[in-house]
Amino acid sequence: MKRMKVWLDADPGVDDAAAIILAAKMPEFEILGVSACAGNVELHYTYDNARNLVAYTGLNVPVHKGAARPLMAEPHFAREIHGKNGLGGQTLPVSAAKHETLPAWDAIYEAACEYAGELILVMIGPLTNLAIALLKYPDLKEKIKRVVLMGGAVSYGNTTPSAEFNIHFDPEAADIVFSAGLNISMLGLDVTMQAALDENAIEKIHSVNEQGTFLANSMRQTLTWAKKLFDLDFVAMHDPCTFLYLVYPDLFRSAATGVKIELRGKLTRGKTVSDVFSDYKFADRSVDVVLGIDHCRFFDCFLEILGRY
Ligand code: BDR
Ligand code: CA
Repeated sequence: MKRMKVWLDADPGVDDAAAIILAAKMPEFEILGVSACAGNVELHYTYDNARNLVAYTGLNVPVHKGAARPLMAEPHFAREIHGKNGLGGQTLPVSAAKHETLPAWDAIYEAACEYAGELILVMIGPLTNLAIALLKYPDLKEKIKRVVLMGGAVSYGNTTPSAEFNIHFDPEAADIVFSAGLNISMLGLDVTMQAALDENAIEKIHSVNEQGTFLANSMRQTLTWAKKLFDLDFVAMHDPCTFLYLVYPDLFRSAATGVKIELRGKLTRGKTVSDVFSDYKFADRSVDVVLGIDHCRFFDCFLEILGRY
């Protein structure tokens, strides 16, 4: 099997943790490296979490530190959802791996040069690290095969009524990424809110194995907050959708549309404005926007891959 060459950029994050735990057991991927950025919580937590998750899953890859803050916006973390440490209060054994000195943007560029035309970037946090890489290395965009990202929505937001968290955290970075002419698949809230796990599902995950117990415990805390804050009785597995989409595209429904990032609107800053429901008014329809998922098959896949530990 020819494995996909993947770089993962993340801000772990309860659902980022699920994505990493699953991706590490998907033989379709050769994960070349991981980078962390500030997002759900501060960079020192997301970086440590990324390192510890990589070690925990047995992935033997470097983890690089990225941006500690958005390009221009003030950072607004999501501690209420992911807990102070980003993992819903759960802890993992501390990774003994050496610390990489190369910043995320340089490491992404190096991987893109080494695997020019093959590299797939999976982006499950704010897009700051990739935006910096694109600004610093103008030839980077030609080397990247594909970007599969969790962010945005054509419908509603979860941080403001218009904007989704990853895009809202750093709209300027998102604008740079979406304007670069990259081959982008966008898995926004339209699809990821359908990848929902209720208490029963979390209970099943808990009983699969040790990794499942870790994930379920971190999700339970998120579930309590989600109930209290939003009256939601499920946790959305936003970030794992990216990896599942790469391997099981037939589980999903998508459309080629134009997407632009709103930077100025008083009520709409950070919105991924798409023309998918407006007769495709944008001339450029280069973004593959994912809109739906087969929920039953999603959960079967989730359990099956988790069970590979
Ligand atoms: C996205 O924001 C973060 O809180 C999650 O990890 C996910 O990447 C969902 O809006
Ligand atoms: Ca994330």
